[in-house]
Formats: sequence, C-alpha cells, structure tokens
Amino acid sequence: MNELSIPRPNNLDAFWMPYSDNKYFKDTPRLLARAEGMLYFTPEGREILDGTAGLWCCNAGHGRREIVEAIQKQAAILDFAPTFQLGHPIAFEAAARVAELTPEGLDRVFFTNSGSESADTALKIALAYQRARGQAQRVRLVGRERGYHGVGFGGMSVGGIGTNRKQFGAMLPYVDHLPHTHLPEHNAFSKGLPAHGAHLADDLEHLVALHGDTIAAVMVEPLAGSTGVLVPPVGYLQRLRDLCDKHGILLIYDEVITGFGRLGTHFGAERLGVVPDIMTMAKGLTNAAVPMGAVAVNNEIYDTIIRGTAAGIEFFHGYTYSGHPLAAAAALAAIDIHVRDDLPGRVRAIEDYWQEAAHSLRSAPNVIDIRNHGLIAGIELAPLPGKPNERAMRIFRRCFDDGLLVRVTGDIVALSPPLIIEKHHVDRIFTTLGDAIHKEAA
Ligand SMILES: Cc1ncc(COP(=O)(O)O)c(C=O)c1O
Repeated sequence: MNELSIPRPNNLDAFWMPYSDNKYFKDTPRLLARAEGMLYFTPEGREILDGTAGLWCCNAGHGRREIVEAIQKQAAILDFAPTFQLGHPIAFEAAARVAELTPEGLDRVFFTNSGSESADTALKIALAYQRARGQAQRVRLVGRERGYHGVGFGGMSVGGIGTNRKQFGAMLPYVDHLPHTHLPEHNAFSKGLPAHGAHLADDLEHLVALHGDTIAAVMVEPLAGSTGVLVPPVGYLQRLRDLCDKHGILLIYDEVITGFGRLGTHFGAERLGVVPDIMTMAKGLTNAAVPMGAVAVNNEIYDTIIRGTAAGIEFFHGYTYSGHPLAAAAALAAIDIHVRDDLPGRVRAIEDYWQEAAHSLRSAPNVIDIRNHGLIAGIELAPLPGKPNERAMRIFRRCFDDGLLVRVTGDIVALSPPLIIEKHHVDRIFTTLGDAIHKEAA
C-alpha cells in the first residue's frame, strides 16, 4: 500500500464515460487516482503497473517533474492567447521542435488537441492541397479495413472498424477502403514484421481503376494499434508509397501511437523506412500531460496551399486551442526528455527482451497469435464460445486486480508500456498476464 490515499468520488453518475461499459463500471468501479513513473495507484494506494502507458501516450512515464514544472510556469506567464491572426512565442517554438524530429522535408506543423482532430485535419489538408494544385476532382479518401483514426466524422469514415460506425448512420461520402493486413493463416506468431502480405497494397490499383484520378489521399496507421496490433508486412508500406506516387495520391500516416519513440525511432516512418507526405501525431507529443495533437506536412503541400491564395486566410481550419500555451510548454518539456533520455534508444535496447517475453506466452491456453514490434505487443485469444470479447475482458479485470494495467480490444490484449520500462517490469507484465490467462482457462 502507498501512504498517499485519495478519496473516492461519492457520485459516479454524472460522468458519461467514453468507450466504456458505464453500467458495469459504475457497479464495480476500478479507479486510478495517482501515477508516478511506471506505476498507477488506486485511491486506496494499491499499485498498478502500467502496461499501456495510459492509452499509448505517457511514453516518458508518469509525473515527470520537468513537464509538471513547465506547465506550472507557463500557466503563470500566459494562460491563453489566440493563434488566429495572432501568435505567441511558445507555439512557434514547439512547432519548430516537432519539425526537428519529423522526417526530413515534413517541416510544417499544424496543431490540434487530439488524435481525432489530427486525423480530420490531415484529411482536410490533403483535399485542400489537391484543389490548390489544380486537381479539384481528387475528392476521394482511402482508408483501410480495421484502421482507427479517432472519432471525428472524417477519421471515423476513413477508419475501418465497424463497431465505431454502426450507431451513426451516414459517413463521409467518397471514401473507400483497402483490405486490412491481418493474415493469421500465414503470419501467426511472427516476431516483428510479418513476411506475408505486401501484395495487399496492390488493391490501391483496383481502386484507381474504379475511381480514376479522383483519389486525394490514402491514410493508414503504419502499425495499426487500436484494432489489436497489426504489424505491417515486409514491403507493404513501400508498395503503398510507390503506388501513391505513381497515381498522384498523397500518403498520410496516422502516427498517433507510433510517434515519439514507440518503435525505437522518433516516428514509425523512420523505423519502417517509408516516409509519408503527411503525418498525424498526438499522445506522446506532450506525454499526455496536456491534450495536444499535430499534423506535420511536407513543404510542398504547405507552400502550395499558402501560395494558392493571393491574400487573406489560406486554410479555413483551426481550433481555439491550436498551439495552446500549456500544451506547447508540455510538448517542449516532453520532447526534451525524449531527446535527452534517448527514449527511442531505450526501446531498441529492450525490444528483443520484450519480444521474447511476449512470445513466451505462445503455449499458454487459448493464445492463438502473438504479434510485436518496438515496444508493442498484441496477444490474441480464442473467443469464449458464443461470447466474443468476454475472455479478454475477464483477463483485463483479473490483471487489474492483480496489479497490472493491460488494454483489450476484442479478444486481443494490447501492451504498450512507457518507454522507460526496465527488464524487471517486463518480467512482471508477462508473469501477471500469463497467470491471468491460465486462471481464466481453468
Ligand atoms: C492511430 C490513432 N489515431 C487516432 C486516435 C485518436 O486519438 P484521440 O483519442 O486523441 O482523439 C488514436 C487513439 O488511440 C489512434 O490510435
């Protein structure tokens, strides 16, 4: 038990919890009240090892003093100032710092407040760019089955997860999808990039044959996380890049979870060796201490849109809080830690150990696949007969009660710990998870 206990709230009714089983939670609440380093603490002070960096976002671990102090200091200097037709110094500083980390040429940065806003912003930039370069017929957006790009109408429509769409009727028009890359019959238990599936990018040729020169952009996660960890097959992203170039289509990466070190480089683009035209980010950008997202674009796109208008506003898009001073301060401090502590290097140093620990669960009951890359792992379980998702949810609850936070989507347990993880944490994660899998099978 930790000495610092925080009172539980008396009333759980008013907060409509996002992506949650509100009824179940409010009957059996599991609360997190405090965090430090690799650990969360319940209101009573019970320790929970963070196997998910919150929601793939606290890459530098929790409660980093430098970030806390930067936010406190900035709040006292400038709480808020608009960035519409005005500017404040720290927003420019933060954008320049982000541009130092993005791949060469992706040097222009548009700030948002979340991954969802980044996805919609990226799609709007792609459409505006095509129009500005005289290709106004390019109005189609292509996503991928099982893709997740947040919950705005753009990201939801281009995303390919049925459950996220079914309550909401019509989606954006002019959207099509590539097939997902999950091929368990060929790739089960792959370590790192699976060998089979590069050909799935060729479906873009079919969409071009169908739609001609009306496609503006293709958006994919370089490694799909929220759908349950789908690692791109060897050669797949390069094929997609080549086909986009061949047909005048922009390639957008959604790097909301792969950005800021998770794959052992600043961004997934670097590790996977294929650079997009536009890249979204959020989460690790501020270590999640203040909400912030961003979209980095190549200079050609920025210049074309900016020059496309003789005078006046060039791009009719923006958020009240784009470049918010507190978020910018958090981003600068988080990036300082990312660089100074070489978080990507830490990932590369521990990823083999992580991989072997993850795959040690291969013979655990009901495990039907294990996938991993960088500091990510997905463990897929056979569904309980007639009760899809139930087995993983039971394991999630058991892990929590045993002091470990994991995340589940469907019957897949997804792990993405803070990048400061050490070997003894890795051991604890997979021992606790393995025990939970065994106990749930009994
Ligand atoms: C790839 C990807 N894009 C977008 C989002 C949405 O981000 P947010 O929840 O900050 O809107 C997420 C969230 O997990 C994500 O994984």
